Amino acid sequence: MIYKDINNALTRITRSYEQVVAVADVKLQKNDFHLPTLWLETSEERKSLQTIEEIWYFLFAQGVTRRGLLVAIGGGVLTDLAGFAAATYKRGIDYVNIPTTLLAMVDASSGGKTGFNYHGLKNSVGAFHAPKETLICPQWLKTLPSDEFLSGFGEMLKTGLIEESGKLWPQLLQYDLETMDVETLTPLIETCVRAKEQIVTADPHEEGLRKILNFGHTFGHALEEAQSVNRPSSKRPLLHGYAVLYGLIAELYLSVTKLGCPREPLQQLTQLMLHYYGRPQCNCSDREQLIALMQQDKKNERTAEINCTLLHDVGSPVINQVITPAEANEALEYLFSL
Ligand SMILES: NC(=O)c1ccc[n+]([C@@H]2O[C@H](COP(=O)([O-])OP(=O)(O)OC[C@H]3O[C@@H](n4cnc5c(N)ncnc54)[C@H](O)[C@@H]3O)[C@@H](O)[C@H]2O)c1
Repeated sequence: MIYKDINNALTRITRSYEQVVAVADVKLQKNDFHLPTLWLETSEERKSLQTIEEIWYFLFAQGVTRRGLLVAIGGGVLTDLAGFAAATYKRGIDYVNIPTTLLAMVDASSGGKTGFNYHGLKNSVGAFHAPKETLICPQWLKTLPSDEFLSGFGEMLKTGLIEESGKLWPQLLQYDLETMDVETLTPLIETCVRAKEQIVTADPHEEGLRKILNFGHTFGHALEEAQSVNRPSSKRPLLHGYAVLYGLIAELYLSVTKLGCPREPLQQLTQLMLHYYGRPQCNCSDREQLIALMQQDKKNERTAEINCTLLHDVGSPVINQVITPAEANEALEYLFSL
């Protein structure tokens, strides 16, 4: 699971396959994986059917059979794409994830959700196809830009809020985001990975329990999508973990007002946001658009109904909470007033 050096683990895994090929983020090109490698530019725009076709084409060109293995090396965009290509190529081949961003380490590279953006909607086409293994080496984080680090930390904060012992949350609040030290972060990464694995093992296809992982994501996805629709091409996209963090604030607000959750975690998270992440760059007049996006979120079983995971308290999430448009509006008003 967590390795100082992944080479031995990779050699052990690849031994039992007929062919082994890799798909890797082009930003990692200075590393030599000693495997035939397709280097890909990654971005949300590139998380598309066209890129999936590029991977399929590469697999055919390399003569990969059903007994072949695909190694995915990169952030969440890369592992989601490679996982979907592996799920569908020749009706499914094995793949291994080597996540190189914090977000991919703690979230995207485990749990088996794969897919790409389609019809203007994030991750709207996909498949459940779990990697054979996920090899995490935190040393990759040493080259990660600080905003990408903070994005991954956003997903860790979500895990801290839902993790049942309640012990991770104060540890995350104590972590020094000024230094972003990889060594002190490693045990916290391990706790996040273990917490997610426990949940997805119990509910691999998101029929119930797994929905607790969506805490922060109903509002977060809407913010991410609205920003990608409205954004001038010159402006940077809103990073996934930032969107999740803003979503956590909105959903913590609803947890306080609807379920009587204590205010303290909301105040703690707001402090973190103001200090490190900045306010959401989204105009308040977007609220109607955001609510419409939430009503069509793929995680909602019925259209026009906004469904969220909320908290009774830290470590005590509750799924399938129906939110009215007026309540969603109030939570957005709160978020944009900070
Ligand atoms: N499948 C899941 O369960 C799941 C869960 C959460 C998020 N996701 C998906 O993950 C994606 C976001 O993942 P992400 O934040 O890793 O984004 P990303 O893959 O776009 O990577 C972020 C940036 O970091 C660069 N990068 C990667 N590794 C690096 C390294 N070691 N050093 C320097 N730069 C590096 C990439 O080129 C990219 O520019 C979203 O598309 C989201 O939908 C999936």
